[in-house]
Amino acid sequence: MATKSKRKKLEQAHIGLAAENREKLIPRLNQLLADEHLLYTKTRNYHWNVTGIHFSQLHELFEEQYNSLQLIADEVAERSRMLGGTAVGTLVEFLEHTRLSEAPGAIPSAPDMLANLLDDHEQVITSLRDDIEACMEEFNDEGTADLLIGTMRAHEKMAWMLRSMANGG
Ligand SMILES: [Fe+2]
Repeated sequence: MATKSKRKKLEQAHIGLAAENREKLIPRLNQLLADEHLLYTKTRNYHWNVTGIHFSQLHELFEEQYNSLQLIADEVAERSRMLGGTAVGTLVEFLEHTRLSEAPGAIPSAPDMLANLLDDHEQVITSLRDDIEACMEEFNDEGTADLLIGTMRAHEKMAWMLRSMANGG
C-alpha cells in the first residue's frame, strides 16, 4: 500500500489507471529505461571500436541498433511521464537502476561483442515478458503493455540479427 506522501509525488493523470498501479509500474519503466541506456552505450562503444574483416558490416549493424535503442528509450521515458512519474535521466541513476553490466577498459573481439550484445538483449526480452504480464494481469494497463510488446519484438529482431551474425562468423 502506497503512503500518502509517496502518492503526492505522482502527477495527476486521470487516464483511468489507479495511482497505486501507476506507482508500481513507474519504477519498472525506469529500470527498463536504464537497461536501454546501458545497451545503447555498449552498442555505440562497439560501433566505434569494432575491428576485423567484418568491420564494415558490424559498424553499420551496431549503428542501426543503437539508433533503435535510442528511440525505444525515448518512448519508455515518455511513458513514465504519461503515467504521472519522473523518468530517470542521469548516468549515475542509469547505473543504479540497470540490471545489465559493463566491462570498462576492455575492447572485446568482434565475436565477443556479438555475444555480449546478444546476452543483454535476451536479458531485456526476459524482463519485458515479466513486465508485460504485470501490465496485463496486475496493473490493467493495456497502453503500457502495448508499448512493451512492441519493444520486446524490436529486441527479438535485434537479437536475431546478432545471433545470425555470430553463427556465421
Ligand atoms: Fe558513427
